[in-house]
Amino acid sequence: MLTLRMLALAAIVSLPASASLAAQGNIPAGQEKAKPCLGCHGQNGVSSIPGIPSLAGQRDQFIQWQLVFFRNGRRANPIMAPLVANLSDEDIRNLGAYFASLPYNTVVAAGTPDPDLTAKGKEVAAHHGCANCHKEDFRGQQAAAAIADQREDYLVQALKDYRSGARPSTGVAAMTEAAGGLTDDEIPQVAHYVATLGPPGK
Ligand code: HEC
Ligand code: HEC
Repeated sequence: MLTLRMLALAAIVSLPASASLAAQGNIPAGQEKAKPCLGCHGQNGVSSIPGIPSLAGQRDQFIQWQLVFFRNGRRANPIMAPLVANLSDEDIRNLGAYFASLPYNTVVAAGTPDPDLTAKGKEVAAHHGCANCHKEDFRGQQAAAAIADQREDYLVQALKDYRSGARPSTGVAAMTEAAGGLTDDEIPQVAHYVATLGPPGK
């Protein structure tokens, strides 16, 4: 796994991990390839289905890496695996560019913030340094996902999956480590906080 760890670390620190993943994809070609994806991930890349993440405005590099990991089985998922099996690297590049180009969701996932949960979640995020990688606005950078205004149920699930090891973290296992320190109470708190952040600057 040394090579994969090194590649993913490189992606996080923004050195092009491979020329093909680093190149800018073609948005119209990605839009064409994305047609079968929208029934689940939402017509505008904003999911209204529990358990299915929104992809609109997600980080291009994050999307590309996750598709590569679904394709090679590192992120084992019975729903996504057959859908990505026949995607080429170029398709993946184009899909990343397309979804990253869609306007970021701030509506569907952002239910009514619960002030108590939000305050606790904010503390959890500060205590665990989530913004170090996901940035102050929680919209991510490079291979670190945008998590602001993602579906709350999906954030909870993702954090539990990292913590249990069901979902392997990429690179230097940043998320396995980050989620490993979260308690059962802290996961819904931090998920609620980031899921209900709303437009930046608010
Ligand atoms: C049948 C429904 C379905 C379809 C169709 C589908 N997906 Fe997914 N997708 C899912 C589910 C469910 C997950 C969450 C997997 C998990 O729980 O880890 C997911 C996760 C993802 C993720 C990871 C996002 C994240 O935030 O971690 C990406 C990227 C993705 N899908 C892209 C695509 C693309 C591109 C297509 C079309 C080629 C597609 N999906 C088609 C159901 C679907
Ligand atoms: C050292 C860097 C780092 C820290 C600290 C960190 N993350 Fe992450 N996080 C990442 C990276 C990189 C990814 C995407 C790649 C992966 O799966 O490992 C990610 C992915 C995620 C995802 C999955 C998003 C999706 O759409 O699938 C969630 C949720 C998440 N992080 C939440 C958090 C929370 C909450 C904290 C604080 C408790 C945190 N992260 C701390 C780097 C970090």
